[in-house]
Amino acid sequence: MSRLAGRREVLTGLALTPAALAWPGPRAKGTDLPASLARAAARSGRYFGAAARIDQLRAEEALRRTFLRDCAWVTPEVHMKWDALAPSPHQFAFEAADGLASFAKDHGLKLRGHALLWDPSTPVWAKSALAEGRDWAVVSRHFAAVVGRYREQVDTWDVVNEPIDAGAGPRSLKPNVFFQAFGPDYIARALQEARRHAPRARLAINEYGFDYDNPVERRRRAAFLRLLHDLKSRGAPLDAVGLQAHLDLGKGPLKAEIISPFLQRIADLGLKIAITELDVRERDFRLPLAERDRRVAEEVRAYLDIVLAHPAVEGVTTWGLTDRLSWLQDQETAARGDHNRGLPYDGQFRPKPMYWALRAALAGAVA
Ligand code: G3I
Repeated sequence: MSRLAGRREVLTGLALTPAALAWPGPRAKGTDLPASLARAAARSGRYFGAAARIDQLRAEEALRRTFLRDCAWVTPEVHMKWDALAPSPHQFAFEAADGLASFAKDHGLKLRGHALLWDPSTPVWAKSALAEGRDWAVVSRHFAAVVGRYREQVDTWDVVNEPIDAGAGPRSLKPNVFFQAFGPDYIARALQEARRHAPRARLAINEYGFDYDNPVERRRRAAFLRLLHDLKSRGAPLDAVGLQAHLDLGKGPLKAEIISPFLQRIADLGLKIAITELDVRERDFRLPLAERDRRVAEEVRAYLDIVLAHPAVEGVTTWGLTDRLSWLQDQETAARGDHNRGLPYDGQFRPKPMYWALRAALAGAVA
């Protein structure tokens, strides 16, 4: 029997009215859950947050209100990436990142810095400079400007984003611009560089593709553990990892016997764990909406029940709050006329079964 069967009414039956959503709001009928994802998470000493963009928060009052009700942490979805901050070598564009940082400060939200080194968000001018000169000063100047600027505010930095190569690449690391310029040591060097500019921030590597029982993700888990082990044994200043958790209904089922030992081995290295980009990619858009939403919620509940059993998991961040603004509304999906429903709220900020699954899992997790 589905572990959700007994909660079916919680997942599908509660069509909340706007009044019921108002903060602090009445409790959901038939449950004793606190009326906020952040509050639910706080029950086990954890946090809940979401990725956001300041332009969207400014433009939409409903998004802002929903965000502030549910989130204790915010991750900039794009503003703190290198290409967003430095469109040319001598031109910085801090307005959006500063705006989100001020929003966080004004509302008492913790800020996750995302992400210092990520090949796809490295500006073209920096890629050329790195490829030609192999000059670490290009990285160093970037870190000094960005890590230094948000030193007092960023709790955790994603120092390196997505370094693992699923294939048989060198040392199972992507042969990205940093690897090509500096070899595999670029990761340890980046952590040391970040530490110089932010002595108190926690430093993390953020990565995807660890959640399912298939050969590719098995190799990815093994490669990631090897990397973490190597960094820790060499004394690199690595404090935490981010597991993105872009779940996928085409890859299931999720298995505790696969995920739990992986988390345990990370924790055994003394590292904290955050779930950093949770959402769900749908694969079958022909099913009735209620069934689609139920499957998304069930995936999230199954995942969180596994990961929240680990004390090293400190918090959960979803990659946005509403389906309407999700990166999963990609061109391929849109071209088919489909609309992915892999975040807690629909386009009008009505909570979907995924919202209730999140809330129940966060509130029910063992402290
Ligand atoms: O801001 C520019 C705008 O000026 C320009 O007119 C427009 C034209 O395309 O592009 C805008 O930038 C886009 C930006 O989002 C803001 O909308 C970029 O092209 C687009 O690539 C960027 O996509 C983001 C992507 O990372 C790359 O930065 C997605 O929103 C964001 O959800 C995605 O997030 C990543 C995580 O950082 C790492 N893990 C995977 C995750 C999903 O891909």
